[in-house]
Amino acid sequence: MMIDRQSRVFRANEIIFREGDVGDCAYLIEKGSVLIFLNKDGTEYPLKVLGKGEVFGEMSLIDNSLRSASCRTLDQTQLIVVTREQLLDRIQTADPVVRLLMRALLSRLRYQNDNIRGKSFATEAQAHEEDKKAALNQIEQENRIAQGLQNREFIPWYQPIYDLSSKRIVGCEALMRWISADGIAAAPSTFIDVMENSSLIVDAGRAMLEQCMAHLTKIRSLVPADFFVSINISGRQFAEPNFLDELEKLRHAFQLPAHQIKLEVTERVMMEGPQALGVLQNCRALGYHLAIDDFGTGFSSLQYLASMPLHDLKIDRSFVSKMHEQEKSLSIVRSLIHMAQLLGMNIIAEGIETNEQWKSLQSLGVTMGQGYLFSKPVSFNDFEKLLNTAKLVKAS
Ligand code: C2E
Ligand code: CMP
Ligand code: CA
Ligand code: CA
Repeated sequence: MMIDRQSRVFRANEIIFREGDVGDCAYLIEKGSVLIFLNKDGTEYPLKVLGKGEVFGEMSLIDNSLRSASCRTLDQTQLIVVTREQLLDRIQTADPVVRLLMRALLSRLRYQNDNIRGKSFATEAQAHEEDKKAALNQIEQENRIAQGLQNREFIPWYQPIYDLSSKRIVGCEALMRWISADGIAAAPSTFIDVMENSSLIVDAGRAMLEQCMAHLTKIRSLVPADFFVSINISGRQFAEPNFLDELEKLRHAFQLPAHQIKLEVTERVMMEGPQALGVLQNCRALGYHLAIDDFGTGFSSLQYLASMPLHDLKIDRSFVSKMHEQEKSLSIVRSLIHMAQLLGMNIIAEGIETNEQWKSLQSLGVTMGQGYLFSKPVSFNDFEKLLNTAKLVKAS
């Protein structure tokens, strides 16, 4: 009897499928129980009794092979159908290493079942060469990054942030670079995703915080008391239970005032768990400055924007770069500025490359900005030099 498209009820002792059948869907047990069994020399060889909340019939979908065992109900049973698409969609978006591990486990289970029944139902072994390559590649990259972290090859470069009317440097953004043995600085596009998909981002983020604080200590005599260093904090790093404790420990060790440290977060921090808002509030209460980065580029929620205790909103480069080419980008920039002003936030524009963009943003009410027009991100030594000349300009 069918209840609806997704849920089916079976009487006791009904066969759901037999080993060797083509698998078309998996099942979740809503009520009742089933027996997974093999046919061994004409008799039933029980493998497992499954009950409410358990899943079965997934193996043939995952490894695109035939049913590895048979299944019959033990009593009246209600099953929720999990379609091939529902299952495969999730597997395709999973980490390639997780996919490889899953396939390895399945092939071991199949091997055991084949041994028991003395016969193989698997179609020829599935190659999945693409997955193997992707998994290997990821593990290799993670290992190289972990080694790089140990060798302290990840360092902050700095891009100055300017007051758009006086053109004075008011702060800077720290941007991670990977300095390889040949001295070449690689940008985050070549490694940040691998870091973000593993816990490496937590170690890398911690290393960035420590180096940024050490650098800030060195330049404090060159800059005004409200000069800030903006540091990108990834969602995962922010969700670490001891994030704020470690931040505070470092800050005290370097004897820095919290207001000179700006934490750049994206809305993703709010999706990492319900504690995020509390951590943001504690950061603000301790005096740290908070900026929201990349707003409007992902799953932006106005609800988050209203609830997060932010000082600044950063207008993403993707809007700035198109503001004179696309009427819509200009409208988005205008609305973001308007909204930030209504919420009492400062605005920092990113990716300013032309005089036209600079002047327009300024006339729209944007107070601070960064971009190649003024300076690209530079090494700490070059940034120090830049501050020295900037100070000369200020003094004259
Ligand atoms: P983001 O935080 O949005 O940083 C701004 C990016 O725009 C930087 O790229 C910067 O170099 C680039 N940029 C600034 N002005 C201009 C311009 O005028 N023209 C162009 N074409 N680009 C400009 P970068 O350094 O490659 O960093 C890329 C992203 O990597 C950052 O985007 C941030 O999301 C991430 N990232 C960088 N450092 C860190 C870090 O220490 N921790 C974390 N979690 N993420 C980081
Ligand atoms: P599938 O191969 O699609 O169809 C048979 C199902 O039985 C299989 O997916 C698993 O859900 C389950 N199954 C197969 N072998 C075992 C086993 N050894 N123990 C428990 N469950 C199994
Ligand atoms: Ca940023
Ligand atoms: Ca950005």
